[in-house]
Amino acid sequence: MIERIQHLLTEVSNWSAKDAAELEALRLKYLSKKGEISLLFNDFRNVPSELKKEVGQRLNELKTQAHEKLTDLKSSFEQQDSDTSDLDYSRSIQNGGLGARHPLSIVKNEIVDIFARLGFTIAEGPEIEDDWNVFGALNFAPEHPARDMQDTFFIERNPDILLRTHTSSVQTRVMNTQEPPIRIICPGRVYRNEAISYRAHCFFHQVEALYINKDVSFADLKQVLLYFAQEMFGSKTKIRLRPSYFPFTEPSAEMDISCHICGGKGCPFCKHTGWVEILGCGMVDPAVLENCGIDSSVYSGYALGMGIERITNLKYQVKDLRMFSENDVRFLDQFKSAY
Ligand code: DAH
Repeated sequence: MIERIQHLLTEVSNWSAKDAAELEALRLKYLSKKGEISLLFNDFRNVPSELKKEVGQRLNELKTQAHEKLTDLKSSFEQQDSDTSDLDYSRSIQNGGLGARHPLSIVKNEIVDIFARLGFTIAEGPEIEDDWNVFGALNFAPEHPARDMQDTFFIERNPDILLRTHTSSVQTRVMNTQEPPIRIICPGRVYRNEAISYRAHCFFHQVEALYINKDVSFADLKQVLLYFAQEMFGSKTKIRLRPSYFPFTEPSAEMDISCHICGGKGCPFCKHTGWVEILGCGMVDPAVLENCGIDSSVYSGYALGMGIERITNLKYQVKDLRMFSENDVRFLDQFKSAY
């Protein structure tokens, strides 16, 4: 065995390779599972115990030498590759040009700007959250389907730690730590266990807004919604609120805007209804305020949440959600004129 190791050591020191393919051939011949060096390791168990120490040491030495030699040979090609002697330094510089902001960032900034004009300030929270901030405090009953394994990514099988499924979790955090009045806008990434297709992704982006003060009413919410819709989609935009349900708001509504493509007359984009849905909203449920330590007999408030991808699709008619995360420059370049 020792002789065989010695023999292989000499072979290793004589290894040479012209290119990556030859190098790989050496690796396969000697170091792959059935390679010559690996096979010696298999034979090690038959070595008499009094020789095991010495043979073991030599075997390890052989393996280390072989790996070092492979690394040396590899770096010698890489050096050749980066050899700059044939570069033409007189060639004129090609300007790579300016990049473009990502469409989701453009739209997020626009949404945040509109709310900033109304006095909202940005609040952020972690993407890895606990059950209480994402669901518990927001009135999701323990058996609510949104907590289901199929919707939520849990971390390391711990049902308490998860990737946030909505930015409403930032509401919880802020209400738990700040005294009203609270007026925040929370942009961020959220995660859901969805099969990826042109219309769904396992991560996407939302913006949440929350206002808590004395005497906040549904009329205040409606004013803000109308202002937002007209700033974002043009001053002729109309809004319509439909009753809806969210565990953390009561009453709850979904807001549609008049289709900005056909102006509300009806077209394939709005499925001939004249309206397109853009967000969810409502008055913060008093139970949620209490869960977060805010006295619901003194304070009330509204919340709203929207998907940034959805708003971006409405503005730019991007047909496939996957485009947002594939980073194809042909797609991204089209947003150069926006900012
Ligand atoms: N969190 C909801 C979602 O992910 C969106 C939402 C609806 C947020 C209504 C709100 C709201 O603040 O009031 O689907």
